[in-house]
Formats: sequence, structure tokens, C-alpha cells
Amino acid sequence: MTTHKTRIAVFCSGGGSNFKSIYRAIAEKPLDAEILLCLSNRSQCGAMEFASQNGIATVHITEKQFSSFEEFAAAMVQYLKDAQIDIVLLAGYMRKVPDAVVAAFPDKMLNIHPALLPKFGGEGMYGMFVHRAVLEAGEKESGATVHFVNEEYDKGKILLQKRVPVLPGDTPESLAARVLECEHALYPDALEKLLTMQNS
Ligand code: GAR
Repeated sequence: MTTHKTRIAVFCSGGGSNFKSIYRAIAEKPLDAEILLCLSNRSQCGAMEFASQNGIATVHITEKQFSSFEEFAAAMVQYLKDAQIDIVLLAGYMRKVPDAVVAAFPDKMLNIHPALLPKFGGEGMYGMFVHRAVLEAGEKESGATVHFVNEEYDKGKILLQKRVPVLPGDTPESLAARVLECEHALYPDALEKLLTMQNS
């Protein structure tokens, strides 16, 4: 049972539309949480820009800044500890999170994936690669999955899923847009579910 607002860090690499949808949900719904940190492997991207504009601390961190992977992972954990982060939300973060960071947040790290896991997940399955694979497989539906993060790509326990149809004539881009819209409803719902689980 937490007695303070749940302190969230979001990890992003791109436009950050999921980050923005979570930010808005926290502002609009009675969610007892706040976003304190935006961490990215890219110094400039939509997500980092949005964080800066909204007074959220940003951290640009990549493996290249360190002499070893272990130091990189330890620095990431330290940033999260310094900001007293309770939960981490991966929102379009296109890198594998180091095991040491995952281990520091057991059952407290979520990822959103743009397909109905366990299908179309795993290494190399991200962004448009996922939507192309769904269309090539002739699927009649797709959707999005929010799952807990463990040491394996897209293999953690599923928290919530939402489906969308695949329509005749869909391109990877049109399917991606439909799935992304569904993600914007799903991630705030999944966050709400996690917060409820943590407080029960
Ligand atoms: C989203 O579709 C998200 O599911 C996907 O990247 C997009 C990020 O968009 N994530 C992955 O493919 C991770 N495996 P956003 O930056 O606008 O939130």
C-alpha cells in the first residue's frame, strides 16, 4: 500500500504519443500517480520535447556514454533511484532494458506492444515490422498488449489487451494508426489496473 502518489518514469524513443496519453489520463482521471522522469536513448525526440515543455525531468542515456554495459545499467538504476521512482512505463522505447534495471523493478515495469502478444513479439518485432508481419500473416485482427517486463523480449505476464480489426486494403501505416489509437486508451487503463493491484 503506497501512502504517496505513485512516482512514474517513462522510457521513450520516438514521438511519445503513448507518453502523452498517459500524461493526459493522469491529469484528467483520479489516478494517484505522477510522471517524474522521461528517459530516452535519443536526446531529441517528441517524447523528450514534451517532457521538457511540461516540467518533467529528462535523462538521455545510451550505452555509448559508458565504458561497459554494466556501468550503463547501473547508471540507469541510479537515475531511477535518485528520482525515487516506483514504476517504469516503457512507451515506445526501442531498446532492450538491461536485466539489472528489470530486476530492480519486479512487477513494477510495463511495456506496450503494438500487437496481440504472444503473437508477433520478440527480438526485431517493433514498430512497423510488427504491422507488416501481421498483414503478411493474413490476420483478421490485431491490437495492442500491455505486459509486465521480464528479461525476455515481450514475454512477461500480460496485464491487458485491446483488439482492432484488420480491414481490407490495410497498409502497415493504416493498421499502425488504428493500433496506436487503441494503445492510447489501453495504456492508461493498464496503468489504472496496476495502481489498483498495488493498493489492494
Ligand atoms: C507504439 O506503437 C508502441 O506500441 C511501439 O512503438 C510505438 C511508439 O509510439 N512499441 C514497440 O514496438 C516496442 N516493441 P509513440 O512513441 O507515439 O508512443
